[in-house]
Amino acid sequence: MKRVAILLSGGGSNMVALVRSMAGDHPARPCLVLSNDPGAGGLDRARDMGIATAAVPHRPFAGDRAGFESALSRPLEAAAPDILCLAGFMRILTPAFIERWRGRILNIHPSLLPAYRGLDTHARALADGAAEAGCTVHEVTAALDDGPILGQARVSVRPGDTAATLAARVLVQEHRLYPAVLRRFAACDRRPVWLDATDHVAG
Ligand code: GRF
Repeated sequence: MKRVAILLSGGGSNMVALVRSMAGDHPARPCLVLSNDPGAGGLDRARDMGIATAAVPHRPFAGDRAGFESALSRPLEAAAPDILCLAGFMRILTPAFIERWRGRILNIHPSLLPAYRGLDTHARALADGAAEAGCTVHEVTAALDDGPILGQARVSVRPGDTAATLAARVLVQEHRLYPAVLRRFAACDRRPVWLDATDHVAG
């Protein structure tokens, strides 16, 4: 049974979807929900689901990224995870940290990578007049929002969409995609997962 640590900075809706999926004959179970923000809503939701949590504030380490990661690694190593899932974790990790977990660290990004790496993905897609949007689960490598793609879900951009309405529609797909990818990844199956939202017209 694989042990999964989930790292988050915010509300944790992706964490909830992942935790709920790890049941029955699923080859993994959550072992820790970890945040850089003690006030993250995702920590309360994890505690409500009986999952162990930890928080390491990043602010006291301003400018000392290695120091923050050293502190973050203490509860993380203690939980002895086999897989790390970044789910709305908003701190950039150093190559040294990523190397420690190489091949076992996943992230979900709210765009169809390689398009729209970085922030404000939906606003940028709308500004470009993109016809479709979506989300990507990928292995984390030293390059930001890069790494082998393990799955994508697509939605159609609709007339009148705002960044908020598009984000909400993509988030529904994130909650389908990430659990589907984690289940395969935990079973050592790296075949990518391609999902289309019911309203997405391919091509
Ligand atoms: C999601 O949109 C995800 O794609 C991005 O941050 C958001 C996290 O939302 N990385 P939540 O905290 O999982 O609700």
